[in-house]
This record gives sequence, structure tokens and C-alpha cells, in this order.
Amino acid sequence: MASLLLSNPNRRPWRRNARIIRPMAHPLTSHKKPVGLPTRGKTASNRLRRVDNFALLYEPSLLTRTDGLFRDSLFVDLGYGFDARTTLESASRFRRVNPNLKILGVEIDKERVEAALPFADDKTFFRLGGFNLPLRTGEHVRLIRAFNVFRQYEEKDFAPAYEILAQRVLPGGLMIEGTSTPFGQLWSANVVRRVLESDGYVPHSGMPSSSQKQASGIQGWDFEALVFSTNFRLGFDVEEFQTILPKNYIHHVVAGEPIHDFFEAWKRAAAEAVGAKVYGLRQWFSAAAEGLAARGYKIDLHKKWLSKGWLIWRL
Ligand SMILES: C[S@@+](CC[C@H](N)C(=O)[O-])C[C@H]1O[C@@H](n2cnc3c(N)ncnc32)[C@H](O)[C@@H]1O
Repeated sequence: MASLLLSNPNRRPWRRNARIIRPMAHPLTSHKKPVGLPTRGKTASNRLRRVDNFALLYEPSLLTRTDGLFRDSLFVDLGYGFDARTTLESASRFRRVNPNLKILGVEIDKERVEAALPFADDKTFFRLGGFNLPLRTGEHVRLIRAFNVFRQYEEKDFAPAYEILAQRVLPGGLMIEGTSTPFGQLWSANVVRRVLESDGYVPHSGMPSSSQKQASGIQGWDFEALVFSTNFRLGFDVEEFQTILPKNYIHHVVAGEPIHDFFEAWKRAAAEAVGAKVYGLRQWFSAAAEGLAARGYKIDLHKKWLSKGWLIWRL
């Protein structure tokens, strides 16, 4: 199991004001050592299609907005794997709504960056980097997708990595970070929003101010939702989602933990709603979601989500 020793950047407050001198940036010579560890690079075509479709429906303006620093800001695909296919697929999906969108694929494995470089162009970049994203002066991030990256880390690495990532995202920007099955039929993801205090945004060094410590205990992010996705090809079995939970939940499905209560409630709601199965899996999924909401969970019951297999638990 991979483990990284991430020091808390708060302990180095002088970095906030330090003038950073960067050497000429080449994709394979980052000015800072990438934070993180290379992990298995497995990916698959269209594995993350539903993640992109979710992003497009969740907040379409995030990909198109041009106000302030969002103008020209990047979509970052963190940890794209042994080749660039998922990044390039996202490029074509997202550029249907924003033809000028700049896209940065980041990999901590040098060979994977080399493999992707032939696909770079004037708005599609691939760079060697880690959780401390390899941004250049004047670059800003509107959205990070990080899928199947944290799976091989230890849970203790989760919060420090999130805090480092928060430094690089524009206030109001999002990260969708999650885990999927090998072909993306099922996934779950944290949807986290970079907190809005604009004076805490420090794109190249330092940390957000301590006033931004969130209820999650993780600086810089508001945990907005936990999302579950199914394309129904594997049927509908609540327990299957337990196996692809994000790192901050996967070891907590034990009695006494809120995520355990959530799954128990979802399973009961699904069992009670089993009659709806005769009308199809989508109807059963929706009816179970309604049962979960009736138990007090803040579930988004809009048809546009449930009929397409997205359960959004608003936190
Ligand atoms: C399993 S692949 C996932 C590929 C793709 N995102 C997907 O879901 O199909 C995980 C990739 O994340 C990369 N990775 C792990 N930690 C990283 C980090 N801190 N920064 C950048 N890439 C990282 C690994 O090198 C690996 O190629």
C-alpha cells in the first residue's frame, strides 16, 4: 500500500510570501518535486464518460464561465493513467460547451507524460506533477477531476493531499474525486467546492487562511455532496457501492459511523421499494432514493438525476 509523507505546509508560513523563481518549464522538468507516488496506471476508454456528463449537468457554467480569473482557467485531469485517453475524451466532451477550454493532464509517472505528449496542442497540455499541480504563472484551475487516484494511497494521506490541491483551485471551483469500477459502470465521488474567500486564494504557494478550515476538518474545501453513479448495467445492488467509495469513507462502513448508517438506510429503503423493480431498475433506484429522503437524508430527488442513475447526497 502506498504511503506518502506530506508535511503540513502550514508549518512553513514563510512560503506564503516567498518569491518563487521558476526555471523554464518543460513538461518533464517540474519546478517542484511532485507530491505523491506513482500507482497502477490502469484506465479504459469511456471509463469516466459519466463523470464528465455529471459535471456538465451539475454545474454547466463552471466549464464556460469567463468572469475574472475563470477566463482561460483550466480543467485538470489529475492522474490520467498509462495513456491520455480519458483526458482526450474529456477534451472533446467539454469543448462541445466551451471550444476554448484549456485542459491539463497531470501524471506523476514520467513515462505516462511522455506517452501523452504527442497529443498536446495549444490548449491541451500534459505535465509531470503531483498533488501540488504543475501550474505556470498566470494559470488557474476551475475544475479538477481525480479518478481512481486515491485508491492506492492510505487514508492518512487523504486530507493533506486535498489541502494541497485546494491551494490551486479558484474560489468557487470544484473537484470531483472518486473511484469507479474498471469500466465506469459504477462510481462514487466527493464533490468538493473551493471555499469562496477570495483573499485565501494563493495559486502558487502558501495555504488558505486558517479561517477557512471547514467542518470536514480539511482546509480550503466545502464537502458539497457525495455522489453515487450507476448506468444500471450491473443491476442495482446498494452493497456494490460500498466497494467503490472514496478513500475518506471506504474504511468507515462499520457500525457507529455515519456512512454505515447511510448504507443501512439505503439498503432498507431499496428493500421496501422492491415492488418498483417491476417497472425497471431506474424506477427502483428512484423509489429507494425517495425512501432514503423520507428517512431524513438530503437526497436530490430531481428526476434529471435519479432517472439517469445519479444519487446525490447533499452534505
Ligand atoms: C488507476 S490510474 C487512473 C487513471 C484514470 N484517471 C482512470 O480513472 O481511468 C491512477 C493514476 O494516478 C497517478 N497518480 C497517483 N498519484 C498521483 C499524484 N499524486 N499526482 C498525479 N498522478 C498521480 C498514477 O501514476 C496512475 O497513473
